Amino acid sequence: MNELKHIAIIMDGNGRWAKKQGFMKRIVGHEEGAKRVREITIHASNLGVKYLTLYAFSTENWKRPEGEVGFLMKLMDRYLKNELSLFLENDVRFEIIGEISKLPKDLRQTIEFTKEKTAHFKGLTQVLAVNYGSKNEIVRAVNKAVNAGIEVDEHRFDELLDTAGMDPVDILIRTGGEKRLSNYLLWQAAYSELYFTDTLWPDFHVGELDEIIKEFHKTQRRFGAVK
Ligand code: IPE
Ligand code: IPE
Ligand code: MG
Repeated sequence: MNELKHIAIIMDGNGRWAKKQGFMKRIVGHEEGAKRVREITIHASNLGVKYLTLYAFSTENWKRPEGEVGFLMKLMDRYLKNELSLFLENDVRFEIIGEISKLPKDLRQTIEFTKEKTAHFKGLTQVLAVNYGSKNEIVRAVNKAVNAGIEVDEHRFDELLDTAGMDPVDILIRTGGEKRLSNYLLWQAAYSELYFTDTLWPDFHVGELDEIIKEFHKTQRRFGAVK
């Protein structure tokens, strides 16, 4: 069995799901997708996974229509307020990665509040990637090193990233059929096992995650060595 500490998911396909269901508005798909976050979080927590890192909003997603962006910001705020009880009941710590300073004030306050309330939990850490882009994260990390006047090695660089202290990504899943990383965890996924599924995020369910984990355990991870 491979060690499984960190699962990362690119939750894609909400808009197409809404269209397929006959809804005029893409936001219906985002609303439905948020429900899957809850189920997958509980499942990952029960499996004893340490980190579940979910791509919620990329640095590129600001290019979307203002109405959709505004809806997503409000949805994340509402999601966090609703999920606090889930975090408290399941020993789940909440963390965030991404350039948070650029988010609306209300959402920033909710993020800080949720982090504070769950900081002492020792079970799963649910990490939400909001206004996250790997390139943005790496450039911010480089500037931290430059400003501190330090020379980095791989380990020190790790500690300057938003994911400081987290284990590398073991399984990276993208739903929605596209086979690309869309600026997600490029450094942290250096040796992850990649899974691309056509399932649209609102249709993704715990059974499919179990199948992926089963596949993962069959894989021989070599990390460059000979086995
Ligand atoms: C993913 O679903 C959610 C976000 C990027 C916020 P999409 O909104 O990208 O849905 P599709 O890919 O257009 O179907
Ligand atoms: C990636 O999905 C970002 C999130 C899931 C939050 P996108 O829908 O933004 O990615 P592209 O544009 O298809 O690459
Ligand atoms: Mg998409």
